[in-house]
Amino acid sequence: MEIGPKIIAITGKGGSGKSVTTTLLAKLLSEKYNKKLLLIDADPTHPHLSYMVNLIPEKTIEDVRTEIIEESINRTLEVDKIARNIDYKIYNIVKETKSFGVLSIGQPKIEGCFCPLNNLLRNVIDSISKDYDFILIDCEAGLEQINRKVIRNVDIVLIISDMSVRGIKTASSIKESAQRFTSSRYIGLILNKVKGSFQTLTDHIARLDLQVIGKIPDDEIISQFDLQGKPLIDLPENAQSLASVDSIITKLFSLDY
Ligand SMILES: Nc1ncnc2c1ncn2[C@@H]1O[C@H](COP(=O)(O)OP(=O)(O)O)[C@@H](O)[C@H]1O
Ligand SMILES: [Mg+2]
Repeated sequence: MEIGPKIIAITGKGGSGKSVTTTLLAKLLSEKYNKKLLLIDADPTHPHLSYMVNLIPEKTIEDVRTEIIEESINRTLEVDKIARNIDYKIYNIVKETKSFGVLSIGQPKIEGCFCPLNNLLRNVIDSISKDYDFILIDCEAGLEQINRKVIRNVDIVLIISDMSVRGIKTASSIKESAQRFTSSRYIGLILNKVKGSFQTLTDHIARLDLQVIGKIPDDEIISQFDLQGKPLIDLPENAQSLASVDSIITKLFSLDY
């Protein structure tokens, strides 16, 4: 891999395991590989990542957006000063531990469109990326953020699918969008919650020309953590799912592009 920040978008249909995969990647990249990480919880409707990694920012990008709007309306600051302040404000809402930082997109306070938030997020990703070894973006389900070019400047797109034809079909649409709308140089499929035999799925994957980078088993320990409401970042190091994610990381490190 090249030196420099690596921006990885984690995508897939709702419930496929985007947030779980992001958390397991974060755990290994920070604890085992000592990488400086920024995690972006970019799912406005299901912001679960912060809870899974047990680091909840006090303020979200939406809060900053609201503040900026108020400042502009009340004219408490000159407009260009407000614009210059945006990056500073965003940097300040990143919740940091020694292992990683978390930035949360938040939920729009007014019903409806996510566009203004997505626009802000796009600029944030562009300007903040230089400070980290890796940026993991836990995306909103589906195609919206890719099609709106929110995640245009990414290096890697990982598409998560559960063990369903629907998941694989969504993965295929996401791949097409990612090829069109992002600068990604690698797009890989991760099969998640794998159990039993799945020849039919394998046939679909081959037909849709998806490249499988790894498989994560349906892991009983993850379900146990879910049941007890424990943060997944504390998963024991010998968990099966972690070993699978580690081999995905090895493959990511060896990508030659
Ligand atoms: N490999 C796995 N083994 C067991 N349960 C899993 C696994 N991956 C995800 N889950 C469970 O599936 C549900 C959805 O996962 P989540 O990561 O929140 O999906 P998404 O972020 O894509 O909507 C959660 O309850 C999660 O704990
Ligand atoms: Mg999620």
